[in-house]
Amino acid sequence: MIWPVVCSLLVIFIIYCIKASIRPRDFPPGPPCLAFLGSLPYLDVRNLSKSFSKLQERHGDVFSVFIGSTPVVVLNGWKTIKEAFERPEFSGRPGNFSGTFFQKGKTGITTTEGKHWSSQRNFLIDYLENISRSGSQGFQDIMMDEVTDLKLDLTKKLSEPIAVSYKLNVCIINILWNLCCGRRLHAQQQEFQTVYECVDKITQFMSRAAIFSFLPILTKVLPESVTKIEKGRYYRNRFHEISEKWIREHRQEYRGNRTGDLQDLYLEKVNKGEDNFTEQGLAAMIREIFVIGSESVSVMLRWSLRILSCHPEVQEKVQEELDRVCGRGVDVTWDKSDQLPYTMAIVKEVQRFADIAPTGLMHKTVCDATLQGYHLPANTLIMANFTSCHQSTEFWKHPEKFHPEHFLENGKLIENKEGFMPYGLGTRICPGMKLADMELFLILSNILSSYQLVMVEGDDGDLGTQFEGGTAVLRNPKPYRVVFENRS
Ligand code: HEM
Repeated sequence: MIWPVVCSLLVIFIIYCIKASIRPRDFPPGPPCLAFLGSLPYLDVRNLSKSFSKLQERHGDVFSVFIGSTPVVVLNGWKTIKEAFERPEFSGRPGNFSGTFFQKGKTGITTTEGKHWSSQRNFLIDYLENISRSGSQGFQDIMMDEVTDLKLDLTKKLSEPIAVSYKLNVCIINILWNLCCGRRLHAQQQEFQTVYECVDKITQFMSRAAIFSFLPILTKVLPESVTKIEKGRYYRNRFHEISEKWIREHRQEYRGNRTGDLQDLYLEKVNKGEDNFTEQGLAAMIREIFVIGSESVSVMLRWSLRILSCHPEVQEKVQEELDRVCGRGVDVTWDKSDQLPYTMAIVKEVQRFADIAPTGLMHKTVCDATLQGYHLPANTLIMANFTSCHQSTEFWKHPEKFHPEHFLENGKLIENKEGFMPYGLGTRICPGMKLADMELFLILSNILSSYQLVMVEGDDGDLGTQFEGGTAVLRNPKPYRVVFENRS
């Protein structure tokens, strides 16, 4: 009696395995897809871009992998990524666990689509464009105040090996605080400490939780000690309360005639009853700016200081340029950036070399689309392998080395270089890129103008990463200490 049942189950299982291993018609090729596991045995989830580069050699620039039973199309190479990401059909964003958990639903910019997404995104772009436009002194002054405080803080620890993350984060968070709330706080104040802790813990949680988008069952079967969902929920709720409190405070102070910070301008639209502009939308945007905007810039700056401390000859060249154009120890301002090609090349080469977001954020097709002869149904998940560009000999003479000359031609800066896309490209390109570029330039150049970065004794100068990036995980440098010496 039992054998017919076992045989039927076996047949069903075999049919399921065969079905799971067949790709849809005209779908991009790729490694075999196994039942339940998909292509996982063929992927190193801690270093997806490395696995992707191997698969690219075999299957070409467009291939597909399966995460569990979900197909993901992976794009490689500058031309292919550009061709796809510039088309509106590829501008969708799949619902992902971390993003919707953090915002308590699909709101803000990163996780939304359609009219809501474009209205919020355009608002942020216009605002950032306005405050960072050359001639707009206000925002640069704010950044320079923070840079001055950072330097004061560094001066207290001259000639000692120090970890830089906390000091950098204080500076970055206060820049964002000014942008969103029109004020700053001292790092010792309780409110600052709370926000710092929330941003830090939420970022950690979101990185760890990226896998739950593909395998939501894990949130049910794994113990809290592994998923850390309760802890994530605690910090998320605290940050929601804080962002809502900021808006209440702003409302009380708002007289309808201020045109200052981001909240003032957003509230103006709320008051006019413009579509998609609500106080909840504003709170979501602020939370997003704090979490995405602080961690990315912080990781990039940590890479910058690490790389430069390991390359004294590069520091020497930047300092020669800064001294010549601005004067030794004199504040370096954004309007000088045109005359500082080597310094600008350093900022760009750090972005290429560090490659902090190797697979960016996942996209989705919003309707049926074709790409290089393949048919991609609506709602297909799309991932770009930016490393395939940032590490390609097609664009870089020494892809594996830190080589600022990659961005220089006859002593001039190459502004838009093919194969370079630290902020993604096309319809979803990072709206914070100009702000981030300014922050990186001002913080880095002003530090180098005053200090020499020196490796700690015994440091072997390894420029390795703490963990290779899987999706939604930023590549960090290995933890390090560095010595700041006054330039004699
Ligand atoms: C060095 C710093 C930064 C890097 C490397 C970076 C990189 C990226 C990348 C790769 C994406 C994904 C693009 C795509 O989906 O194709 C992105 C999206 C985004 N970034 Fe940044 N970013 C940085 C700084 C910032 C800052 C300072 C802000 C905020 C002020 C910001 C806000 C956003 C937002 C809101 C999105 C989502 C855009 C959308 O879905 O339309 N980023 N960023």
